[in-house]
Amino acid sequence: MTEKATTGEPFNFNKLPARDYLEQRQALIQAFRTVRRHSEQIASPFSPEDQQIQSMPEASPVKWHLAHTSWFFETFILAEFAPRFKWFNEHFCYLFNSYYNAVGRQYPRPQRGLMSSPGLEHVMQYRKQVTTHMLDLLQGCDDDLFEKLAASLVLGLNHEQQHQELIMTDISHALLYRNCEQGQPVSKQPVCMNSSESNSSTNGWLDFKGGEAITGYQGQGFCFDNELAAHLELLQPFQIASHLVSNADWIEFMDAGGYDDPLLWLCDGWAWKMKNGISCPLYWLQVDDNWYHRILSGPEGMPARRAVSHISYYEADAFASWKNARLPREAEWEQVARSYGWKTNREPDRKPDNKKWRSNSVYDLDRCWQWTQSAYSAYPQFQASPGMAAEYNGKFMVNQIVLRGASQATAAFHSRASYRNFFYPDARWQFTSLRLARDSD
Ligand SMILES: [Fe+2]
Repeated sequence: MTEKATTGEPFNFNKLPARDYLEQRQALIQAFRTVRRHSEQIASPFSPEDQQIQSMPEASPVKWHLAHTSWFFETFILAEFAPRFKWFNEHFCYLFNSYYNAVGRQYPRPQRGLMSSPGLEHVMQYRKQVTTHMLDLLQGCDDDLFEKLAASLVLGLNHEQQHQELIMTDISHALLYRNCEQGQPVSKQPVCMNSSESNSSTNGWLDFKGGEAITGYQGQGFCFDNELAAHLELLQPFQIASHLVSNADWIEFMDAGGYDDPLLWLCDGWAWKMKNGISCPLYWLQVDDNWYHRILSGPEGMPARRAVSHISYYEADAFASWKNARLPREAEWEQVARSYGWKTNREPDRKPDNKKWRSNSVYDLDRCWQWTQSAYSAYPQFQASPGMAAEYNGKFMVNQIVLRGASQATAAFHSRASYRNFFYPDARWQFTSLRLARDSD
């Protein structure tokens, strides 16, 4: 076992070069245990009934996520490599295959909430069996076999971590949707708008000269296929905001009639806004001229300086237009992240009185996912991962928008400067925010 695995320090398996998989075998096995356990810990506060619900076609029940992540290991590792392999239940291949057409047919995604069987208890037995068989395989196989399956193992761990974030955002959507009907705010202050806090956004523009910039993953560790190939992009000179747009900024936008001015909105965005009656970010609630946001414990006041979240690309773009700015291109965002280093800066609040926070730096890289203006498409020389994982990313490269960064729900070490998240432009149940950019004069 490695030093890192024994000291209790978090083990970042994504930084591990493939050639070191064997040397770090015990640490990878420990990481497998940790990731599997963490999914169950996230789910455990929710009742079986809550874990069953699905509030919209794009979201899935917690129970389904717990089963699907097990199906992934069962299908891509156990079925491939385990001696004397037997499916836990062959019908689960249909129920818990998400979108892998080459693997087989799938139960309709919008109806996952109707899947009363298997029940949660049965799903937990499934998880347990898959975890046990995986550990038997990982601990018992020879080095040659471990080397063969290690890349799929690391992909499976990253996959389960992605679903951990989805568990949190999907159950939040389901429960907050319900809580929406439960009446008035019960606690705390509404959004605080005192004068020292009201001018908190874009409190610094950072200059970038432009020129050739490396975009895409460079390194020996794990990355998703959509981060490759690293290549040069030619950037024009630009400026980027040091901070994300805040709740207070958003209220200014709303008070200025931002949701009512069609000239600020993309055509599709205006149609979406009108059709759905959108007039504020998801989970916001106005009572007696005060704004609250709904969280699982009930509506509560919002810190004015905290980054606005749960907004669509359409809203982000309209806000940027209102500010005579724009959203960053993903290559610009990546250059900013590379220039300032990829470090965790999830501070509970900004500290504008602290000189350090006024200095020339960039904040909130990983506080919320940040909409870019870049369509999600293949990089030059992109090649889908080999084998069944070919369907993981590449086939979604149409009609979606890239988000960069990470969020408070993202697993530690999961994201990085080159990481490309992607959603449809109307999606807003993730922790989505925006950082303004503009062309240099
Ligand atoms: Fe998945």
